[in-house]
Amino acid sequence: MASGTPTPSSEFEMNICFVGAGYVGGPTAAVMAKFCPTIKFTVVDLDRRRIDGWNSDILPIYEPGLQELVEAMRGKNLFFSTDVGKGIDAADIVMVAVNTPNKPFGAGYDLAAYESVSRSIAQHSNSSKIIVEKSTVPVRTAERMRQIFDSNKKRPDIQLEILSNPEFLAEGTAVKNLENPDRVLVGGLETKEGQEAVRVLVEVYRKWVPANRIITTNLWSSELGKLAANAMLAQRVSSMNSMSALCEVSGANVEELKRILGSDPRIGSQFLNASVGFGGSCLEKDLCGLVYLCESYHLDEVADYWRSVLKINDYQKARFSRNVVSKMFDNVKGKNIAIYGFAFKKDTGDIRLSPAIDICRQLLKEGARLFIYDPKASHVEMIAEFPAAQGFPQERISLERNAYTCATETHAICILTDWTEFKNLDYERIYRSMQKPAFIFDGRNLLDAPQLKAIGFHVVSIGKQ
Ligand SMILES: NC(=O)c1ccc[n+]([C@@H]2O[C@H](COP(=O)([O-])OP(=O)(O)OC[C@H]3O[C@@H](n4cnc5c(N)ncnc54)[C@H](O)[C@@H]3O)[C@@H](O)[C@H]2O)c1
Repeated sequence: MASGTPTPSSEFEMNICFVGAGYVGGPTAAVMAKFCPTIKFTVVDLDRRRIDGWNSDILPIYEPGLQELVEAMRGKNLFFSTDVGKGIDAADIVMVAVNTPNKPFGAGYDLAAYESVSRSIAQHSNSSKIIVEKSTVPVRTAERMRQIFDSNKKRPDIQLEILSNPEFLAEGTAVKNLENPDRVLVGGLETKEGQEAVRVLVEVYRKWVPANRIITTNLWSSELGKLAANAMLAQRVSSMNSMSALCEVSGANVEELKRILGSDPRIGSQFLNASVGFGGSCLEKDLCGLVYLCESYHLDEVADYWRSVLKINDYQKARFSRNVVSKMFDNVKGKNIAIYGFAFKKDTGDIRLSPAIDICRQLLKEGARLFIYDPKASHVEMIAEFPAAQGFPQERISLERNAYTCATETHAICILTDWTEFKNLDYERIYRSMQKPAFIFDGRNLLDAPQLKAIGFHVVSIGKQ
C-alpha cells in the first residue's frame, strides 16, 4: 500500500481504481480482480453508456472469455461506476487508462483526457496514492502530471507518486495476454518514494505474474518502451507488406518468405504476415505520436524513418483497392462487392482505424456497391464511417448479418479481417450464388487459394503472383 495511505475500512486489503472503462481498463481490471481477491477494483468512466454496458449482460466490448470473467467477478471485488471522484478518493492506487488519441490535425497526442483525469485526481485525493499511467503516453508525460498535482492537490502532505505501467495486451487476445503476460513493465522515479511505489505495484502483479516477467525501469524508459514496442510492431508489418509488393511483381511468394525469415531466431517467427495493413487504435496513433515526439526534439531523420512505416501502410491499403479495380477489368462501377470483415483484426469488434475503412471508401469512390459483413463489429459504428454529409452514397452500402447472404449476387469478395469463420465457409455454395467471373481478393492470405481456384474462383492473394 502507498506510504501514508490509511487502511481501507472495508474487508479488502487495498483499493485500486481504474479511470477509463475501455478496451484496456475493463479487461485489465477484470483479470486483476480474478487474481487478487483481497483487492477491490473499481472501474470508473464519465461515459454512462459504457458503465451501464459493463454492468449489463452485453459488455460494451467483445473479447473472447471476457463476458464470463466479468460475470464471475462483478459484485465480488469488481465494480463499475460513473462516480469518478469517489472512485479516485477511495483508491490506494489509481490506474489511468483513458484514451490518448492523436490530435485531429496531426500534431501529436491529444492529452486532454489525461490532463482532465490528472486534475480530477488532485481535486479528489484526500490521502496519498500511487498514480499509474496505464495508457500509452509520450515520454515525460509523468512530468506534466506532476506539475498538475503539485499545483492542485488539496494538501502539501498528500503524496501522489507517479508510475508508468503501460499495457501490452493485444485486442482479440486481451484476457489471455493479461492472464499470462510476456512481461509487465513498471517504471518509477529513482527516488526512495518512487522505488517504494514500484515495489507496491510489483507486489500486486506478483500475485500471478512470475518475477522474471516483471521488468522494472526508470519512468522515462517505461513510457518510451511502450511507444517503441508499438513502433517496432508496426515496422514489422510494413516491412512484410513492402516485401509483398515486390513478391507480386517478381514471382517470389510472401508466405515462403515468411517461412525463410521466421526460421531465423534473430528475426523471430511472429508478426510476419503480409496483409491489407495494420489498423486499430494503437499502432498508427503511436507512430504518429513518435514522429511528433522526434520532431519536437529536432530529430528529423529519426522522425522521417518512422514516418516511412506509416507511408507503407497507406500504400498497402491503396494498393489493395487499386488491385481490386484493376483485376475486375478496371471497372467496379455498379458492381456488387462483398466485404468479409470490417474489424481491424479477428476476435474483436473494434473498427478504429481499420484498413477496411479506407479500402471501402476507395471502392465506393470507384462506384462499387458494398455488402459488408463482420461477425462482431457494430452496425452503428460501421455506418458512421461513411457519413452521408461527406458524400458517401448510403444507397450503395448494405450491412449484412450473414456471410452467405452478403456474397449472394456479388461479383467479388474482399477478405479484410482474418476471422476464423471465413476459413470454414462453404465456398462452393458461395460460388454458386455469385455473379461470374467470381473474384476473391484475399487481403489476409487466409483462404486455401488452390481449393478456391478449383471451385472456379479467380483468386488474388497478397504477395503472390
Ligand atoms: N486498445 C488497445 O488494444 C490498447 C492496448 C494497449 C494500450 N492501449 C492504450 O490504452 C489507452 C486506452 O485505450 P482504450 O483502447 O482502452 O481506449 P478507449 O477509448 O476504449 O477507452 C478510454 C475510456 O476512457 C474514458 N475517459 C476519457 N476521459 C475520461 C475522464 N476524464 N474520466 C473518466 N473516464 C474518461 C472514455 O470515456 C473511454 O471509455 C490508450 O492510451 C491506448 O493507446 C490500448
